[in-house]
Formats: sequence, structure tokens, C-alpha cells
Amino acid sequence: MEELILKGHSGCKLQLLKSESSNQIKCVRKFSSNIDYNNRLIAQATKQRNFDNEILNTPRVIQDGFLDDLYFFDMEYIRGNTLSHSIEKLTRTEIDSISKVIASFIKNNIKAGFDNDIDTHSSVMNKIDSIHSSIKDKDTNEVLENTFNLIGSSKFSEIKPGVCHGDLTFENIIIAKQDIYLIDFLDTFLETPLADVSKLFQDLIVGWSFREKILKGSINENEQIKIHYFKNSLCENIKQTVNWEYVNIYLIIDLLRIIPYTKQREIYKFILEAILKLTERLEKGDFYEYVNNTMRWPI
Ligand SMILES: Nc1ncnc2c1ncn2[C@@H]1O[C@H](COP(=O)(O)OP(=O)(O)OP(=O)(O)O)[C@@H](O)[C@H]1O
Ligand SMILES: [Mg+2]
Repeated sequence: MEELILKGHSGCKLQLLKSESSNQIKCVRKFSSNIDYNNRLIAQATKQRNFDNEILNTPRVIQDGFLDDLYFFDMEYIRGNTLSHSIEKLTRTEIDSISKVIASFIKNNIKAGFDNDIDTHSSVMNKIDSIHSSIKDKDTNEVLENTFNLIGSSKFSEIKPGVCHGDLTFENIIIAKQDIYLIDFLDTFLETPLADVSKLFQDLIVGWSFREKILKGSINENEQIKIHYFKNSLCENIKQTVNWEYVNIYLIIDLLRIIPYTKQREIYKFILEAILKLTERLEKGDFYEYVNNTMRWPI
């Protein structure tokens, strides 16, 4: 079996496996980046296996196992492009239909919810505390003091637990001919559809999946127009269902989580700037109006 490597960000290695007889790609093998990451990748494969949705697809998990103590799983190869890659070429009608499908996925997950008594307030508070203590840099902590005070004094008991993908960025959505596939599922500190809304807006307003291009200044006008259109379309589809103050806070938390892992100075600055702008929205309480009206991308 020949192999080609696909690029990922988590440090996990992805191989495209070809069959010996033909030159056809047989499947994708995803390897854990290290032994400590095994359990998270096992959780990912389990979430992918159990994903059962009427409108969205995921590559079928074919088999899994261990090689040199590293966990791996094989999945169906999907011929298509990630949403971040294909957005600029999509028509408005296509964007509307993708946004509608993703919005239905989220709305159904909110509606169904989980039938349990998770203490959502404590789950989120514990997460905020653990992120806070993982940020060691004194200057960063000083800059973020107001942000931590604000989110730390919020109440999270209204957050509804429910099914979620866990890392629903534009890089983890593959647009195939007729179908939309989700890849790279993630177990999160609290399973809630809110996590998916937040990750979508991490791209739609912060531009996270486009960060390399944004920092290089190589985003083209067409991409900006299409992102803007996608954002408006998604807002329209989910505006009644979502608690926008929670989305605002969740977005801040998601960005804060990245800080301890950020090695590049420019990316660090990019995240910090976005967090401060989102903090301002939280103070003003006008996140939805801002998101809906701003022409700026990233914020
Ligand atoms: N089953 C698949 N079929 C086709 N392409 C795939 C498949 N799985 C992954 N890819 C491609 O490989 C890229 C990286 O895969 P994946 O998102 O699983 O990696 P990752 O390293 O975990 O990235 P992340 O930083 O998002 O965690 C995807 O963006 C996609 O382009
Ligand atoms: Mg990914």
C-alpha cells in the first residue's frame, strides 16, 4: 500500500492509503500525534462512528488499532474540498443551502438536548479557571484581567447540553459533490450545540481557519464577500434559536484556550486582538447587532 500525507494542525498524522492493484485512494488513516493523545483520538473515532444524522454525513470508520503504541483509525476517503478552501468558489445559492443544512443540524441538536442534569455552570466555570491557570505569562494575564473578570462573573446555568461536533470549523467541513461531510470530531469539556455555533463564528468573524492567509495579506475580495454572505445567511437561520451572549462568551473561551499552545508571535497577537474586541462586545451587550451589521472581517 502506497501512502501520501495529508496536512493537519493537531499534530496528528494523516495518510492517504492507496490499494496496490490500482492507483485509487482506498482510505485515510489518522494517527495519534503521541501516546498521551491516544485517548482523545479514540474519543474522536467513537464520536465519528456514533454520528447518525439525516442531513449531514461523516466518513465511515473502517477499522482502528495501535501501531507502535500509537492509536490510529481508518476512514473512508471523501473526494471534495474543505469549506475554508471552497468558500470563494461557491455560489450564493450553494452558500444558502449549506448554511441552511448546518443551521438545521444545530437547531435539531438544541431542540433534542440531553436528558440529564449536568451542572453546566460549574463545567464552564471550571474550564475558565483551568484556562486562567494555564496562562503563565504575566503581561498576557494583565491584558486579559478584564476579560477573565467579565466571563468569570457570568452565569452559565441556561446553557443546554446536547449533541455537538466539538470543533465545527470551516477546515473540518468537507463539501463533496452533493453532500456535506463533518470530520475531526472533538470531545469537549461540555457537550453542547453552543460549542458548534461558537466554532462557526470563530471563522465567520475571527477568521481562524483563514489566519495564515489573513496574516500574509493574501485573502482575496471574493473570499471576504462569500464569508460575509455566509455569516448573514447563518445569522438569519439561527437568530431565534441561539443565546448570543453565550456565543460571545464561548468564542472568548475558545480563543483563550488556544493561547497556551500558541508559539508564533503573530498568531498570539491575532488571537489577543480578537479576544479584546469580543470583550468589548460583551461589555456593551451588543454582540448580535455587531455581528449582523459589521462589514469588517476579521473583526
Ligand atoms: N476522510 C477524509 N477524506 C478526505 N480528506 C480528509 C479526510 N480526513 C481528513 N482529510 C483532510 O485532512 C485535513 C486534516 O484532517 P483533520 O482535520 O482530521 O486533521 P487535524 O490534524 O486533526 O486538524 P485539526 O487541527 O483540525 O485538529 C482536513 O482538513 C482534510 O482536508
Ligand atoms: Mg481539522
